[in-house]
Amino acid sequence: MTILTIATQPIDGQKPGTSGLRKKTRVFMQSHFVENFVQATLDAIGGAAGKTFVLGGDGRYFSPQVAQVILRMCAANGAAKVIVGQDALLSTPAASHLIRLNKTDGGFIMSASHNPGGLDEDFGLKFNTANGGPAPESLTDAIHDATTRITEYLILEAHDVDLAAIGETRLGDMVVEVVDPVIDYANLMETLFDFPKLRDMFAAGFRMRFDAMCAITGPYATEILERRLGAPEGTVVNGTPLPDFGGMHPDPNPTWAKDLMDVMFGPDAPDFGAASDGDGDRNMVVGKNTYVSPSDSLAVLAANAHLAPGYRSGIAGVARSMPTSAAADRVAEALGVEAFETPTGWKFFGNLLDAGRVTLCGEESFGTGSDHVREKDGLWAVLLWLNILAERGQNVAEILADHWAKYGRNYYSRHDYEALPTVLANTIVDGLRARLAELPGTDVAGMTIAAADDFAYTDPVDSSVAKHQGLRVSFTDGSRFVIRLSGTGTEGATLRLYLERYVAGPDNLHLDVQDALAPVIGAAESLASIRAVTRRDAPDVVT
Ligand code: G6P
Ligand code: ZN
Repeated sequence: MTILTIATQPIDGQKPGTSGLRKKTRVFMQSHFVENFVQATLDAIGGAAGKTFVLGGDGRYFSPQVAQVILRMCAANGAAKVIVGQDALLSTPAASHLIRLNKTDGGFIMSASHNPGGLDEDFGLKFNTANGGPAPESLTDAIHDATTRITEYLILEAHDVDLAAIGETRLGDMVVEVVDPVIDYANLMETLFDFPKLRDMFAAGFRMRFDAMCAITGPYATEILERRLGAPEGTVVNGTPLPDFGGMHPDPNPTWAKDLMDVMFGPDAPDFGAASDGDGDRNMVVGKNTYVSPSDSLAVLAANAHLAPGYRSGIAGVARSMPTSAAADRVAEALGVEAFETPTGWKFFGNLLDAGRVTLCGEESFGTGSDHVREKDGLWAVLLWLNILAERGQNVAEILADHWAKYGRNYYSRHDYEALPTVLANTIVDGLRARLAELPGTDVAGMTIAAADDFAYTDPVDSSVAKHQGLRVSFTDGSRFVIRLSGTGTEGATLRLYLERYVAGPDNLHLDVQDALAPVIGAAESLASIRAVTRRDAPDVVT
């Protein structure tokens, strides 16, 4: 087989965002687009010679073709071996696990996460490093830099590898090992959670609905929930991964997982509901008539993790992204462990996890995870919730009520304004940023501003600095709002407004969330004029 050296030139816009490179699928389909990015990645990590990688993704449209390109390029660049999920499928947490389990040099994940898939939707590619986590900014910057200077790439002239057959084959001098995408991950879950106890709970009639949204967690959830834990067949719905996710927007939030919400708030709701996203790292959990905000979920998991075998000896610390509510901080304080506030993006948790400073991490964007892998993990969160429900013998609403009674409640919501003209979004953000310094001490909507800044983060482990991570305005009563632009969208700009208000209790712990946040919503509008500038009456998504 011949190694071809193909001349190419830089293609604009190959800058990875919050989580890898995400673009419209047709952009990825342009000639040399994938090849340039893959070569730039291999160059930025110091070459592929002798290295082993993991490869897989959520199965979205165009993945089979990209998998073959990556394999041929790894072979041409001298890689020793690539471990591929069967049919090029791997959930993001499973890929992270395989990278760690096999002590590889990293891996390629083909996914645009919760963004829709298809010819006219989104595709994505990201590289995770040897710790199993998303590449840190230093590496994504180096990759981007390499894409701006690229002149050629190497690719093997070869037939497609059969990725349907489990086992080892060769591609030139490189070994390709096709593995079952589910087994190792399911085995890992079995070490963390009390499977016999969960089996008993299902056997005793516990009912749940897991909506895989026609995305990658279908096979994982079916194996774990229905086969290993004995949940009735049909517990997992939309369980077959489809290249276009059946036309769904595979984002587990109340807007896009509306079917699940309708069932859980309907007359025949099961005991527990959950959904995961395109690549399986996000989760939404819902009880009967009870929505659990991701920020509360993190706090409840932190407070109760010791009930699961994998966390019996307690947690080292908790980290959350800055826009996530401070509910988890209160738990950390009570437990006497460290709490960290990082910029948005799972990659910022990597150093803290590697250093053993934190065990649990979470984000308001429906991500929760622990040090078992270096990605957030949707099914893991579902299993930890199940383990807690089994141990406590309470339902979701009771657990939340107990939690708020003990720690107080951080009312929380995120309002998204999607597909805005970039100019308008920048007008709003730049306008507020320019006024931040003059805000402390002033009154707005009946509240006094205590502090206002543009969040910057110094990593406590390697001292790297990330600036401009979101504008935050906090009030003397502990309420706050945060404004930042999404780093994962592919169309125009998405402006996110994060709202939080703390109520210590015992009164007012069960208010309607939007009502409880009304003063903060009013303050944000009068300071940032989002609705006025965008001429929109309401956000597109409310979480
Ligand atoms: C991805 C990342 C998360 C991040 C989320 C929201 O899911 O893995 O870490 O919180 O995107 O990012 P965005 O920039 O769109 O708010
Ligand atoms: Zn995802």
